[in-house]
Amino acid sequence: MTTRYRVEYALKERPVRKYIYFQVMAFADTELIEWIKGLLAVPFVLLSQPTNIHEDDKPTVAQMAQSAHDRYSQIMKDVEDLIIDHIAHQKRGGLWSTDTKSKLKLLVPSVGNFFTHLPLKDAFEFQDRRRFISNRRFVAPSFNDIRLILNTAQAMSLVRTSRLELVTFDGDVTLYDDGQSLTPDNPCIPRILHLLKKGVRIGIVTAAGYTEESKYYGRLYGLLDALAENDIPAHQLVVMGGEANFLFAYTPHAEHRLERIAPEVWQLPEMSTWTEENIKNLLDVAESALKQCVSALNMPVSVLRKSRAVGIYPPAGVKLAREQLEETVLVVQRILEMSPAAKKIPFCAFNGGNDVFVDIGDKSWGVMACQRYFGGIEGGRSLHVGDQFLSAGANDFKARLACTTAWIASPAETVALLDEVQDLSAARGRSHSLSGGA
Ligand code: IMP
Ligand code: MG
Repeated sequence: MTTRYRVEYALKERPVRKYIYFQVMAFADTELIEWIKGLLAVPFVLLSQPTNIHEDDKPTVAQMAQSAHDRYSQIMKDVEDLIIDHIAHQKRGGLWSTDTKSKLKLLVPSVGNFFTHLPLKDAFEFQDRRRFISNRRFVAPSFNDIRLILNTAQAMSLVRTSRLELVTFDGDVTLYDDGQSLTPDNPCIPRILHLLKKGVRIGIVTAAGYTEESKYYGRLYGLLDALAENDIPAHQLVVMGGEANFLFAYTPHAEHRLERIAPEVWQLPEMSTWTEENIKNLLDVAESALKQCVSALNMPVSVLRKSRAVGIYPPAGVKLAREQLEETVLVVQRILEMSPAAKKIPFCAFNGGNDVFVDIGDKSWGVMACQRYFGGIEGGRSLHVGDQFLSAGANDFKARLACTTAWIASPAETVALLDEVQDLSAARGRSHSLSGGA
């Protein structure tokens, strides 16, 4: 066996394992990432020099890195061109057409639509300077390497060729650790302030579904207070709670710095089917499905029914097994999909890390409502940053239908992404002023 296989086995990241486990539910970006990883594995196997540790006649790390870099770059350029071709097909068939007949679609049948081009070669070169991918002799380009290259490519495209007008963030794991709050020392705060000062609108699109401003203030006070201290005008930042159910806008002088916005202002016409009756019917089915799972899997949990959601959660200090959470999501999702109630309104069943919730609507509606609230921002000028992009029990991946996305794995990666956006914008500003002066 080549080194690659041993390494792949030892290093398989959690998302990849999850994907194999749930391969029946293949998700576009996961499959695309796996496919790119497979393409890069070939030059890795052929060019890596694991024996140069003990054989002097083999190319040095620097020589090997140069040839690997050139091949990886060329492959990323080829994929970049396939995406350009895919977008051309998409435009002919309409953005929402699912039968795009592009070559990329033939190669990766589950691939979704793209809102912008992705400069993958440039993005690879950027990440290679950071992660030294080409210098590695034992570890092939990984799922995480490619996920981060795609994020960088998305940021480059939004800043250089499109225009970034709205950034929406998930809450838990994206802006702060799971179940924590956005405290004043959070490093995302100065970066979000920077975006706001540049005129970019901000949305926090979270599953956390509270109806009271005070609860959101309790989770987000570090950011909301910083906005007031920096004289950010009202209504430049919104909080969308319960995926797509409750919209609040930042208002400095309101008691909790948030003001509830009437649904007529932000709801999309398609949301008119979200009547109390349809919501109740869907949540009734979901609650009974959750209770079936609680009993089948003997889980020590409480059931929580809210106005727009129903969920299960364990007592403090008890950790549910990943398999229990994911089994519950899949069973509940299946029962709901087969019920007449779910034909009338969209829903989102997801694994929140140590709980399972079924929410009315999903983040595609949440992001589209924010786009509407801010005057009709296009998907190609809007970026959603989140941690849940696997199909089995994830809630951010639905945002992929509404706008460009960045898949991060921790709040530290969100900070790194915002720094990339800031550096790219500064570089763009410099090149504009140079060409303006010429
Ligand atoms: P997010 O990562 O910001 O989308 O937050 C997800 C977490 O919010 C879930 O894992 C739950 O722990 C919590 N949560 C609180 N209320 C709700 C609700 O009404 N629906 C879904 N999740 C909720
Ligand atoms: Mg999250």
